[in-house]
Amino acid sequence: MSASELDTLKAELLETIASASDLSGLEEVRVGALGKKGRVSALMQRLGSMPPEERKSYGQAVNAVKVAISEALEAKRATLARAATAAKLAGERVDVTLPVREGPLAEGRIHPVSQVTEELTEIFADMGFSIAEGPDIETDFNNFTALNIPPEHPARQDHDTFYFGEGADGDRPVLRTHTSPVQIRTMLAHKPPLRIIAPGRVYRCDSDQTHTPMFHQIEGLVIDEETHLGHLKWVLEEFCKAFFEVPEVKMRFRASHFPFTEPSMEVDIGYAKVGDEIRIGEGDQWLEILGCGMVHPNVLHAVDLDSKKYQGFAFGVGIDRLAMLKYGAPDLRAFFAGDLRWLKHYGFLPLSVPTLAGGLS
Ligand code: DAH
Repeated sequence: MSASELDTLKAELLETIASASDLSGLEEVRVGALGKKGRVSALMQRLGSMPPEERKSYGQAVNAVKVAISEALEAKRATLARAATAAKLAGERVDVTLPVREGPLAEGRIHPVSQVTEELTEIFADMGFSIAEGPDIETDFNNFTALNIPPEHPARQDHDTFYFGEGADGDRPVLRTHTSPVQIRTMLAHKPPLRIIAPGRVYRCDSDQTHTPMFHQIEGLVIDEETHLGHLKWVLEEFCKAFFEVPEVKMRFRASHFPFTEPSMEVDIGYAKVGDEIRIGEGDQWLEILGCGMVHPNVLHAVDLDSKKYQGFAFGVGIDRLAMLKYGAPDLRAFFAGDLRWLKHYGFLPLSVPTLAGGLS
């Protein structure tokens, strides 16, 4: 084969490579040129029967064609592979900004209590708290005794607490009356430093316009070697600002009493009522939103922690109360009535997940 014939063959092959439209077409071209019986391979086989003086230059010329074809094949393969990936991605594309199609997904709503729980979790997770959990049915020890709640305390009375029948061990389990027993579970299971929140359901024998037998709380607990009231104040202030999405909040810490903290405080936030609207952080009205304090040494002793080495603070917040405040739902009982019209009005779209970066509400 003359040099010009070789050039023609090369040009022809490069042309077929360039016009291959998919990977399998390109593979056919490769086999036809470089495969065992391919056209370039056949030229190589001729070498053996050539006079030695021609062999060298012919061999080099054919090899140059082979190299050029291999390179063109590889370049084309990469281009086609990229195009195939791009086409696949384009075919599977989902526009998440499109409105949800009519149907159950468009109808469904997230309950304000779930939404607010998500918001609270997001805020405290951002401050480095982890989430702890405990069961709704608690032991008397975790719910009362370990929390320094004395036998004669009103919270223990039958008309305030849902008791179960006496078990084989003589203990009467309770539907937990607060999320505070999760403090005990956490301290029994893990060593300090501890920084947890525990959201969940709690139960009390109580029912009127502002009380339901089941409601929701979120508990906070921090235990370390140098924890003081200043830390507690800062955490609560940051939490309120983030939750109500305001740059400043007015807060009032009032001395109070809880058996499991010493000193104990109740916290009010300032608000103003403008027409039907409640404005948080301004005005001169006060609303109680949580209880808190430094963990009582007796509680630390109950879980075998050395109260000389460790201290900490705890707080308990009513979630439903916060939801009512933030989203202006006036009647607590409606939260649990299961009325779909109410949920449609006060509920949240399933895809509007609260994040600190994207906005909580
Ligand atoms: N457990 C209390 C209640 O249900 C709320 C509470 C107050 C929790 C003070 C705390 C705390 O952790 O420090 O009324």
